[in-house]
Amino acid sequence: MPSKYVIHGGQTLRGHVTISGSKNAALPMMAAALLAKGCTVLRNVPDLSDVRLMAHILETLGCEVTLFPQPGVVAINVVDETPVKAPYELVSEMRASFCVLGPLLSRRGEAHVSQPGGCTLGERPVDLHVKGIAAIGSQVTFERGDVVARGRPTGGRVYLGGAMGPSVTGTGNVMCAATMGSGVTVIDQAACEPEIVNLAEMLIAMGAKISGHGTSRIVVEGVRELHPVTFDVIPDRIEAGTFMIAAAITRGDITLEKCDPDVMSALFDKFAEMGVPHERLDATTLRVHCPNRAKAADMTTLPYPGFPTDLQSPLMALLCVSEGYALVEEKIYPERFMHVPEYRRLGAEIRKQFNTAIVTGVSRLQGAPVAATDLRAGAGLILLGLVAEGMTEVLKISHVDRGYDNFHGKLAALGASIQRVEYQPMRRASDRKAA
Ligand code: EPU
Repeated sequence: MPSKYVIHGGQTLRGHVTISGSKNAALPMMAAALLAKGCTVLRNVPDLSDVRLMAHILETLGCEVTLFPQPGVVAINVVDETPVKAPYELVSEMRASFCVLGPLLSRRGEAHVSQPGGCTLGERPVDLHVKGIAAIGSQVTFERGDVVARGRPTGGRVYLGGAMGPSVTGTGNVMCAATMGSGVTVIDQAACEPEIVNLAEMLIAMGAKISGHGTSRIVVEGVRELHPVTFDVIPDRIEAGTFMIAAAITRGDITLEKCDPDVMSALFDKFAEMGVPHERLDATTLRVHCPNRAKAADMTTLPYPGFPTDLQSPLMALLCVSEGYALVEEKIYPERFMHVPEYRRLGAEIRKQFNTAIVTGVSRLQGAPVAATDLRAGAGLILLGLVAEGMTEVLKISHVDRGYDNFHGKLAALGASIQRVEYQPMRRASDRKAA
């Protein structure tokens, strides 16, 4: 049997939880360490399987990576600057591996990175990354499934808007590629996500000349060289949002520490509409105290500062037990509804058509075995397990390990009844005899 979470629903969560560093900031920032020879140190990095995988990729690219010598610390020492190829075996495991493209190209003048392929969220192309890199003067070709970019960027104007909005990691890739280019790069319709701002600030600390980050126009003036830095990763706004929803769904009282309330307006606004009381205690502390059942409210996912797609399935979990019905519209990944059939297994009432779902809140759910279809779907299923009657088993939890640092430990400390049951491989009869 694979590893799983076993949850007994019905506990009210109370207490304090510390929010970890952001996965989606940490991964491109780890890749950005490739931009300078020597040792870059990142702090507040979450301990996740995706972080370990990125460390592995960086090792194949000439880095010595020390993971967590102290909590949250990752040291990346670039010792060999000759490798330029990120292999498909690793890239196919995690799309964020594609973030090495820009840094490799900028520093080493060449990058071969496998096209990531599809994933559980849908097709997820990389055309905007490729268009952006080509527009700033590098040559891009496709060779045996790899995107191959050659020649340090010379600068230019890039429009990064796609049908689904700007690309977050695409913006990061073009920004990194342009740092050591020879000219000026203007990125229009750039992603404004806080993770891009964190990356830009790290690059500036390394010596890059960047302005406009956090707006839809980023300007990068190429410099000759960057140097290693020690830099902090921002708090994970998606983890914070998930714990806020955990408080609301269990009608509990959770104080979140070390988070950034300034980047969470879309969820605050939704909570105000849903009658979920929340307050900012100080610049890094939030409290959600929700004794009553939430009221349903419609939700549309949008690029930042709109409602994040990564909180769509967790908020949908709350809608499943809220009072009334709500329309959920997914505008970033139209196919990001793989969790719907699993939610229904617990008794949720959801109708779905194209990129829209109608959720009718029910007053009780019943525990059942369910399977995570992606990281955030896994989080949503765990949230539902916390309120479903009886036992819920959440399978395929490797998805959850990719993006939540010690999720079950944090939930258990807040009073959840959740156990992680580890996979025990079956032994062959001959091994059993020998033992
Ligand atoms: N898109 C294109 N062409 C491209 C790139 C993207 O059409 O070249 C489309 C995508 O298919 C999607 C939309 O544009 O419809 C937005 O995709 P984006 O490129 O912004 O996504 P990403 O950069 O690959 C990051 C996060 C995701 C998060 C999205 C959207 C990282 C490592 N990943 O992905 O995080 O959902 O932005 O906010 O930063 C997660 O954490 O669970 C997760 C999936």
